[in-house]
Amino acid sequence: MKIHHTFYLSLCLCFSTSSIFAAKMPMPADAPASYEAECASCHMAYPPGLLSEQSWKNLMASLSKHFGTDASVDAQTRAEITNWLIKNAATRQKYSETAPENRITKISWFIRKHDEVRPDVWKRAGIKSPANCGACHIDAAKGIFSENNIRIPAK
Ligand code: HEC
Ligand code: HEC
Repeated sequence: MKIHHTFYLSLCLCFSTSSIFAAKMPMPADAPASYEAECASCHMAYPPGLLSEQSWKNLMASLSKHFGTDASVDAQTRAEITNWLIKNAATRQKYSETAPENRITKISWFIRKHDEVRPDVWKRAGIKSPANCGACHIDAAKGIFSENNIRIPAK
């Protein structure tokens, strides 16, 4: 009995290490105050590891036309936020594709990881948009996206 138990346990660990590795894009501790102030009023402060360096550059260069809103900031703040985002951007090849429309939600890994979410689920009142990570990933603000930390709103 004991031997079997250990065997199963190590099997589980084996599987979960790879998914935990993929599911953590931690919010760096050194986020400038301006990031929270300027980039977290309309949606969550997205952890920088969710986009590549080039994607952040593209997004930060077009803030006056930001998904139908004006999210511009002064030049100094823009430089401060951009530099910090770039420093902490995704580097692993799998995640570093340039994002179509500067959207995390249009990158192939995002689409692949969410292929089991039915189209009507994204539109539920408690979710509204795939960009609303925190609606389902309860620890999204900390950059934790593992499957143990998901609760999908029923409506
Ligand atoms: C005035 C409101 C507002 C501000 C301020 C704002 N955003 Fe946004 N942002 C939006 C809207 C609206 C969307 C589109 C959301 C959706 O599709 O549901 C968006 C989407 C995004 C996305 C893409 C999400 C996806 O679909 O993958 C990123 C990345 C992003 N914002 C980063 C930033 C950064 C960085 C800042 C600060 C410089 C910022 N935002 C400030 C309104 C804002
Ligand atoms: C409708 C709820 C929902 C929303 C909104 C959502 N996700 Fe997910 N996410 C899921 C589900 C369900 C999975 C698949 C979990 C599984 O079975 O591995 C997943 C998987 C993931 C994974 C892979 C986790 C792993 O273990 O490999 C990442 C990373 C992720 N989501 C990031 C995001 C980000 C970033 C956002 C916002 C831009 C977001 N998600 C928005 C439901 C959601």
